[in-house]
Amino acid sequence: MKMTLKLLTSAALLSAALTATAQSHVFDVKASKPGAPVQSTMYGIFFEDINYAADGGLYAELVMNRSFEFPNAFAGWDVSGKVTLMNDGPFEHNPHYVRLAPADHRDKHTMIENSGFFGIGVKGGEEYRFSLWARVPDGGSAKLWIDLVDNATMGDDQKLGNAGVDISGKEWKKYTAIIKPKKTFDKAHLRVWGDSKVTTDVEHISLFPVKTWKGRENGMRQDLAQALYDMKPGVFRFPGGCIVEGTDLESRYQWKNSVGPVENRPLNENRWHYTFTQRYFPNYYQSYGLGFFEFFQLCEDFGCEPLPVISCGLSCQFQNPDPTKPGVHVPVDQLDDYIQDALDLVEFANGDVTTKWGKVRADMGHPEPFNLKFLGVGNEQWDYDEKHGGFGPVFTERLKKFSDALRKKYPTLKLIGTTGPNSEGWDFDLLQPRMKELKVDLYDEHYYRNEEWFLSHGLRYDSYDRKGPRVFAGEYACHGKGKKWNHFETSLYEAAHMTGIERNADLVHMATYAPLFAHVEGWQWRPDAIWYDNLRSFKSVSYYVQQLFAMNKGTNVLPLTMQGKPVAGQEGQDGLFASSVFDSQTGEVIVKVVNTSKQAQSVTIQLQGLKGSRPIDIITLNHNGSMDDENTLDQPEKIVPVMSGMKCDVYKKFTTIIDEVPAMTFRIYKVKK
Ligand code: AHR
Repeated sequence: MKMTLKLLTSAALLSAALTATAQSHVFDVKASKPGAPVQSTMYGIFFEDINYAADGGLYAELVMNRSFEFPNAFAGWDVSGKVTLMNDGPFEHNPHYVRLAPADHRDKHTMIENSGFFGIGVKGGEEYRFSLWARVPDGGSAKLWIDLVDNATMGDDQKLGNAGVDISGKEWKKYTAIIKPKKTFDKAHLRVWGDSKVTTDVEHISLFPVKTWKGRENGMRQDLAQALYDMKPGVFRFPGGCIVEGTDLESRYQWKNSVGPVENRPLNENRWHYTFTQRYFPNYYQSYGLGFFEFFQLCEDFGCEPLPVISCGLSCQFQNPDPTKPGVHVPVDQLDDYIQDALDLVEFANGDVTTKWGKVRADMGHPEPFNLKFLGVGNEQWDYDEKHGGFGPVFTERLKKFSDALRKKYPTLKLIGTTGPNSEGWDFDLLQPRMKELKVDLYDEHYYRNEEWFLSHGLRYDSYDRKGPRVFAGEYACHGKGKKWNHFETSLYEAAHMTGIERNADLVHMATYAPLFAHVEGWQWRPDAIWYDNLRSFKSVSYYVQQLFAMNKGTNVLPLTMQGKPVAGQEGQDGLFASSVFDSQTGEVIVKVVNTSKQAQSVTIQLQGLKGSRPIDIITLNHNGSMDDENTLDQPEKIVPVMSGMKCDVYKKFTTIIDEVPAMTFRIYKVKK
């Protein structure tokens, strides 16, 4: 009797499965045929100091223009009383400091007040570490008062918290104090009051939360670093895209200026302050407080591969359309210093502590090497054919020089070239074969494209030459046509595209969404993965898409087809995209399905090689509201992945997942083998 019931149940299940699959999309997954390895570097992060991503963002310094080195030396500062700018300070690269003299009247005060980056965000009850370098030029001692204030309060006292600092002697010294504000405020200011009787010199005035990422004094904002960690990145590209090149050579990112004692790192202009006149930020500079040492350290924290990118001697080619103009680019026969910078960078990262640059790293507290394996040369550079200026191989002739020198000294270092700013077109077509000729290990492709592009390029990588370099999709994002910023719909199309990246993991070894960060009051470019104000942050849907791929990347690609074809939004595939991987560490078969159609779609996923019924873990990312919705600071978890589960069926002898994937949904199925 029991037996009959069991058989009946199975028969009923099978017939239900057959009905369900009658109009279903049947995916065949060769679950016992693990294919190409998925590189550990496959999904990563790309950091650029755009949108106040470093100063005012990840870098937890709360004081803007702490060394008075902005061209407008008092940018960010209000002053009262007798304040004089001086320029013979203790730090060679940052010579300016401020002299605070007594105001010469009982009721007058000398004071400087910093307004931070769009205000200073402080949390009530938390500790903030104030520091400055100071001296009493005439000898003796002086007292400085430090206040965190709320200028907009209707209360009697503006002070949120304060501390006193005793300064003594003619020598420059570092002083610190802890301030504990009594309430939370996102627009505080920092006041430093001069001594009413004694002249005092002050320099490098700094304020950090004590609670930074890993508690480091020159540290990162905890919530933002944690968000990066939680992405489980496999690779970390830094310090950016266009800022690597600079608007001119002078404003390019110079890694050597970004290491060593933080007080002596010179200021750099940030090219994003003036790039878009409709979003203009004249006070956007790079303190280099988040420099190459800190980038390498973060890579170590996150357990991912560092991927620095260096200038190849070309300033931004968009901003300098005539490469023959003198001074715009470094002439090919004068690249030695630039090439030396690249060689020295490898030494800084990997060199023994007895080497010049290895010692700099050791002196900064990291004698062990950072184990650098990859190096990008140039950001979005290109050559010119006759129809487009006829200036010749402007990029590749420089790249060759770098590559020859780097390969000679560091033969195992993997070099990354670029196919320029476009994912197709004359420049891409010109550069792609040249990357192969130059034998770079990978080349960096960029595509900020609209919905249509993302939906129609599901097979982008399936036809690439497998004998050439591997691909690094170094910057990409779906930019909705006529849309304003991040939207659920565009993020879903990114997920669809990523199934194509995953299916082609033999070719694509790295992919990083871009840009990463944006301050809600200071952005120049959107969409972006993570947004924040001075105290809060939220993860966009695009962030979750990246995270879901990274956390479920598996170790090997599994072939997945529908009627023998890859599931890539092809004609007759009803807007479905899919990929599958096996994870040899967890023993899981992982299938990712993206339904980009406005209707639910039935899918029958046959896990060939797996037998019997078993539980399935499901992760779903979808949204019932408007497709233009997105998470926000006020509703940071409006759209987040949701976990659920169900059971596999057995159909045609295979373990089979039968499901109805809702419209506009990204779903991941995980089944133990
Ligand atoms: O991510 C923003 C910019 O886009 C990058 O700086 C550049 O590489 C690309 O053009």
